[in-house]
Amino acid sequence: MAPRPVSRIAGHFDLSPNCPSDCADKSSHRFGGYGLMGRLKRIFLWLLVIYISVPFIVKLCPSIQAKLVFLNFVRLPYFIDLKRPQDQGLNHTINFYLQPEPGINIGVWHTVPSQMWKEAQGKDREWYDSTFKSPNPVIMYLHGNAGTRGGDHRVQLYKVLSGLGYHVVTFDYRGWGDSDGSPSERGMTSDALFLYQWLKLKAGSKPLHLWGHSLGTGVASNLARHLCDRGIPPDSLILESPFTNIREEAKSHPFSMVYRYLPVELWDCVCILMIQNIVLIVEHISCPLLILHAEDDSVVPFQLGKKLYDMASQSKSLVGHKVQFIPFPFSLAYKHKFIYRSPELPHILSNFFGMTHPQA
Ligand SMILES: *[C@@H]1O[C@H](CO)[C@@H](O)[C@H](O)[C@H]1NC(C)=O
Repeated sequence: MAPRPVSRIAGHFDLSPNCPSDCADKSSHRFGGYGLMGRLKRIFLWLLVIYISVPFIVKLCPSIQAKLVFLNFVRLPYFIDLKRPQDQGLNHTINFYLQPEPGINIGVWHTVPSQMWKEAQGKDREWYDSTFKSPNPVIMYLHGNAGTRGGDHRVQLYKVLSGLGYHVVTFDYRGWGDSDGSPSERGMTSDALFLYQWLKLKAGSKPLHLWGHSLGTGVASNLARHLCDRGIPPDSLILESPFTNIREEAKSHPFSMVYRYLPVELWDCVCILMIQNIVLIVEHISCPLLILHAEDDSVVPFQLGKKLYDMASQSKSLVGHKVQFIPFPFSLAYKHKFIYRSPELPHILSNFFGMTHPQA
């Protein structure tokens, strides 16, 4: 069977000797009518029309804009079964579903401190819930756009944190992964709040930290603000590769590089998703804040994290709380997703938490 297609391909390439006369004929034909310059002009005009109309289409169709920001339809890797975290090398993780609203089930993973991995084999939800009684602190992880709670860079971070002795609880917002519903800013925040309250009941007086990555830094900050407003701040807020607000992020995202020179006012009128304005939110947060950002991040530029830190360090509500900014140099190449690789991370975290990790 194999030789046939091969010979057909070869046959196809064999056409080339006939080509010179053939091609010359065709091209003189093709360009004869309009002339090369005329054709190029038409192409250029079309590109110009597309270039100018895209922002307006995006502006007029909020659903396109939301899709571009959320990217929840991008499910990478495609074939992972979120019911089986063990397939991702997480042998001490359970998958389950919570219902923040009638008809909306969201998928959750609970990874116990890795020292419990042997005990965890074959255990059910009840056993996992009972492990919250251990003194180990809990980290609630809020992932960024695109992909699911099973994305590899996320899984690697759960491994690092559970290896230090923390419970890690992560979930897919409605509209992501196997969670029901469609994505919205309101939905993300209310799912996060629901899970936080659920965890707070389980964790009791143990530390409960929030960790947001990328778009999840907007959700985590928003959640922290809600909690601070209610007088029940989280134990800390960790923002990995955060942005400042969606406008600045949209402006600096590689996909919109061709539009980077649009005047700021135009961006303002194009951007409709505004609530996740972290710069404004940090004015209302009062809990320890840690910002991690790689200098070579091309998805959310380093300058945005730095700017956020500058604003946070002037924020009145954060006075008296630890506010730290940890840049990761260009040479380490951690980019947007690989800060978990830093051998310094355990030290950075114990320094920030002001205590040694439960598991050395
Ligand atoms: C289970 O996971 C733990 C923690 O990541 C690891 O140390 C251990 O080797 C794993 N065990 C198996 C059988 O894969």
